[in-house]
Amino acid sequence: MRDLELTPRLRRLADWVPPGARLADIGTDHGYLPVWLRLHGRVASAIACDLREGPLARARETGRAWGADGIDYRLGNGLAVVFPDEADAVVIAGMGGENIAAILARAPWTAGGKHTLLLQPQTRAEVLRAFLAENGYAIRREALVEDRGVLYPVMEAGGGKMSLTLGQLHGGAALLHDPLGERYIIQKIIRLQTAVAGINRSGKGLEKADRLREIITALLSMREEWRRANGS
Ligand SMILES: C[S@@+](CC[C@H](N)C(=O)[O-])C[C@H]1O[C@@H](n2cnc3c(N)ncnc32)[C@H](O)[C@@H]1O
Repeated sequence: MRDLELTPRLRRLADWVPPGARLADIGTDHGYLPVWLRLHGRVASAIACDLREGPLARARETGRAWGADGIDYRLGNGLAVVFPDEADAVVIAGMGGENIAAILARAPWTAGGKHTLLLQPQTRAEVLRAFLAENGYAIRREALVEDRGVLYPVMEAGGGKMSLTLGQLHGGAALLHDPLGERYIIQKIIRLQTAVAGINRSGKGLEKADRLREIITALLSMREEWRRANGS
């Protein structure tokens, strides 16, 4: 039988799920991650959750088509449908950083230190990093994954303490030795420079432009740090 193939982004998340964990996949959509993990015997059980019926039905169909057992499909908002003692590992992937932060904020037990959190923001990763730093979480590791030309940050977090510099908020908490780190930082700088140029052209939001310039400066020194760390 053909193997269910994960994209590089989902494969990295799968590889970071602790072996034998009881998984909760929040915003599962097609359900590929829990189905793949069950098919490969990597997790003891999985709860696949989604806010909407359509995606949850897709997940059920993936599980049925591949004959994956041990998956409980639940309709609901974020972690509202998961009890803390039902899962050891929580994946929240493929959504905006603000949405991931809001889901964690509504489930403060995720900062209790008993759960491994695997988080993969599609946008606004800096909002998620700031939320984690300010709300009793620590990022244990972070990596960049390239998938169809796009760089995605993947984070493993848990309850703990951490403080991040402005550069780390925007350029990654722990990407100093990541081979894709410099590219990620440069992409951020270019995006911010474009935003500053837009503000300058319109003449509106000049204070915001000052803040963006501070971030650019922090990212430029982070780039230097990355280059030193990687001997380039
Ligand atoms: C783009 S898909 C990501 C699917 C998969 N996690 C991945 O990374 O490939 C985002 C999914 O998250 C779901 N979602 C968004 N907000 C949610 C929430 N608050 N609670 C549960 N699911 C949510 C959406 O319905 C959608 O199916």
